[in-house]
Amino acid sequence: MTINLVKDTTFKINANVIPDNSVNKELIWKSSDENIASVDNEGNIKALNEGNCEIIVSTKEEPIVTEKLLVEVKTKAIGSISKTYPPFNTKIDGITYINGIMLVNKKYSIPQSYAPGLQNIAYSAFLDLKRDAAIAGFNIDLLSGFRSYETQNRLYNNYVATYGQAEADTFSARPGTSEHQTGLAMDVGWIDDSYGDTPSGKWLAANCYKYGFIIRYPKNKESITGYKYEPWHIRYLGTDIAKDVYDSGLCLEEYLGVK
Ligand code: DAL
Ligand code: ZN
Repeated sequence: MTINLVKDTTFKINANVIPDNSVNKELIWKSSDENIASVDNEGNIKALNEGNCEIIVSTKEEPIVTEKLLVEVKTKAIGSISKTYPPFNTKIDGITYINGIMLVNKKYSIPQSYAPGLQNIAYSAFLDLKRDAAIAGFNIDLLSGFRSYETQNRLYNNYVATYGQAEADTFSARPGTSEHQTGLAMDVGWIDDSYGDTPSGKWLAANCYKYGFIIRYPKNKESITGYKYEPWHIRYLGTDIAKDVYDSGLCLEEYLGVK
């Protein structure tokens, strides 16, 4: 079994000793490379540096019988975590990752100071998307990318002043809860409810997963995402996860099991 961990996180492994009537059930935990991941005698694995190592567990009763787990440590990633492993939830620097996927929504906020700018990995994926859209005959422009906490604060307050808070909350994130602050989300094409019915919006919805994006706030998922349908708002997840989310027909909260 392989466990994928994000650097600087801790993960607890639960191991059962079989047979049940073993006299000494105490376990011995070892790491093949303490620089990559360490393990204490309770099975808490600490991901320290990028790389691979093995965590070896044996019982005191029969130290010769061992189980090995392969641990793969990645630096802070948007990327994927093994889909075969049960979901886990971790917080790094105040940001929540579910199975290694950064999650920002009304329930999971990010610190005011988090300001990565538009992330290169997402922007270059967008440029690929834009190029292929143009080949297909559609001009898909980037309308809004990274927004700082302060920008979002201003935007949100303006909307509240115009529409009132209850309505503003259906389409604008409060500061600290906007995906735009992650640098992994963009508004593209045309900011209008009808964009999803246009050929360009349809192309975007049908193809964005190939570039690593999902339509983050789909139709009929308003009660789960907390926002109205936004056919223009795409979120970068990497191609593997984006395809998986697309194929599942679920919104991100459902896909991650946190709705
Ligand atoms: N319009 C989305 C929800 C935002 O403000 O981030
Ligand atoms: Zn947006």
